Formats: sequence, structure tokens, C-alpha cells
Amino acid sequence: MPKLIVVTREGEEREIMGEAGLSVMEVIRDAGIDEILALCGGCCSCATCHVHVDPDFAAKLKPMGPDEDDLLDSTSDRDAGSRLSCQIELTDALDGLKVRIAAED
Ligand code: FES
Repeated sequence: MPKLIVVTREGEEREIMGEAGLSVMEVIRDAGIDEILALCGGCCSCATCHVHVDPDFAAKLKPMGPDEDDLLDSTSDRDAGSRLSCQIELTDALDGLKVRIAAED
């Protein structure tokens, strides 16, 4: 089981053991962290699952698609590490992945 490290908006760091194959959004939500609204349920149409990925891991992620890119443009807190967590599949290769939950829009 890969480990996911989540930094909440209050700066609290949580370590979660996630099931490989789930999205990072699902792992965060299933851990009871309610800062991720995930209003569209992971369909890449809401941007309420926005996270900032630690630079050490950015290159290990699959590149984002145009829909994700467009949605991130609609957020106020986008930076170079921005991703939609529903579009990141947690795999064993991403063990130790660290993400920070983005500011609320
Ligand atoms: S949950 Fe809606 S875009 Fe990720």
C-alpha cells in the first residue's frame, strides 16, 4: 500500500496508507479529510479536488490532459505544482507522494 502525505489548509500533515489504483482524491476523501469537496465525484469537471504536488514528485506523475489544464485555469490558487487529485492514480511507484490541499475558491 503506497503512503500518501497530505498537508491540510491548516498546515496539519497527515500520513495515509492508500489503496493502489484509487485516485489521490478518493484516498483523501476516504481518510475523512473533508477539505476536498470533489463535487463532480472524479469526472474532471469541478476543480474542487485541487492540490499542490510536492516538486519531488511532479515529474513522476502522468502529464495532465487538456480538460484538467482548463479547469485548473479557473482556480485562484494555481501554481506549477497544481493538479486535480481525482486525475492522479495512486500507485506503488508514488509511495510517499506529498500533496497540499489548495485554497478554497
Ligand atoms: S473531483 Fe471534480 S475535478 Fe476532481
